[in-house]
Amino acid sequence: MLPKDFRPTELYEQRFSVSFDYPVVFGHGVLATPDTTLAWAVAHREPERRHPVFVVLDGGLSAARPTLVKEVERYVKSHDRTLELRAPPYVLVGGEAAKNDPELVSSLLAAFVSAKLDRQAAVIVLGGGAVLDAAGYAASMTHRGVRIVRLPSTVLAQCDGGIGVKTGVNAFSTKNLFGTFAPPHAVVNDLELLGTLPLRDARAGMAEAVKVALIRDADFFGWIEANADALGRAEAEPLGALVRRCAALHLRHIAEGGDPFEMGSARPLDYGHWAAHKLEILSGHELRHGEAVAIGMLLDARYAERTGLLPAPDLERLATLLVRLGLPIYHPALAEKTGGRLAVIAGLEDFREHLGGNLTVTLLERIGRGREVSTLDESVVGNAAAWLSERGGGA
Ligand SMILES: NC(=O)c1ccc[n+]([C@@H]2O[C@H](COP(=O)([O-])OP(=O)(O)OC[C@H]3O[C@@H](n4cnc5c(N)ncnc54)[C@H](O)[C@@H]3O)[C@@H](O)[C@H]2O)c1
Ligand SMILES: [Zn+2]
Repeated sequence: MLPKDFRPTELYEQRFSVSFDYPVVFGHGVLATPDTTLAWAVAHREPERRHPVFVVLDGGLSAARPTLVKEVERYVKSHDRTLELRAPPYVLVGGEAAKNDPELVSSLLAAFVSAKLDRQAAVIVLGGGAVLDAAGYAASMTHRGVRIVRLPSTVLAQCDGGIGVKTGVNAFSTKNLFGTFAPPHAVVNDLELLGTLPLRDARAGMAEAVKVALIRDADFFGWIEANADALGRAEAEPLGALVRRCAALHLRHIAEGGDPFEMGSARPLDYGHWAAHKLEILSGHELRHGEAVAIGMLLDARYAERTGLLPAPDLERLATLLVRLGLPIYHPALAEKTGGRLAVIAGLEDFREHLGGNLTVTLLERIGRGREVSTLDESVVGNAAAWLSERGGGA
């Protein structure tokens, strides 16, 4: 502890602020050559000059859309007064594998260097949240940050991960242990890209929309309930509406929530995530991020209901909605034990370690409204996990 009245004798108070802004544009079929959305997204700050670009593609997306490399090359060529392709499109393995192998980030960095990217160049990334996180991390380290233009290609990335300010990779069995805050130069949400997304991934992304509705917007929760059957089939029209509304709530939270770079310990957008991140690792990434979030949200909702915070009917509405959307509410990783304790509990310690100092976990007090707490009782978490097991067919 410092003495109460201590002041350094010679002190210069250094203070400045930097403001960030970036456009998030919605489009449909933006790789068609007459469409200027993507060229604009790269060049919007200096429309007069030619911009060197490096394109990173998600391996899963390009496998599902075999013409993708050609489409990108054709697009850049047809906008060659604005864009200059510095290297052939770079295909990065899709999914969590992109974040788990440090060699992949190194190879990407080497490719940026050999393409001679400078601080005026842009890295364009088309992919899911994992590829956006890994490529964004590499771009943010090159020359202390080259511009990044994201074209998120999953529901989750279009409504959550791909429109925000964070990058990250996994290390030492910890999700997102290494990463940066790096606001993008622009984001283009092309709803057509979602057309090839497997149903499982589309549903997983909806978990983040349920999350933001739970903590911020009871009407949106009601809308998801009213459209749950069509959403569970990933029908294009309600899916587009869900992505737009979820993205708007997310963007508003970053801009107006008062802590875009997460300096404090409150993380309302991480509702359900302390368990989710651990479950992803414990399941050996068998669970998608969004699926783990579904389980983590219900676990915390049952906890809140057991401790008298959340009314029982609200818990029931959440459990019913997740099932209707086709999301899992249980995985055997939730029952895994180490040294007599539930292994998932270590997720709380990881979360506390990540925050530093005090634990702050968001729980629900009703649908549409979160409340921060600073402790969770381990035995109640255990009981909540057992309830999920019964509800989700694990027992
Ligand atoms: N940076 C952030 O703020 C933030 C926020 C939330 C989540 N995330 C991260 O995002 C990741 C999850 O992202 P996700 O849910 O987008 O999944 P994902 O990136 O793991 O992609 C899922 C699968 O879909 C494939 N794919 C992607 N787009 C496709 C398309 N259009 N058609 C066919 N296949 C396609 C991928 O190759 C992959 O196999 C996690 O690592 C999570 O930690 C980051
Ligand atoms: Zn998430």
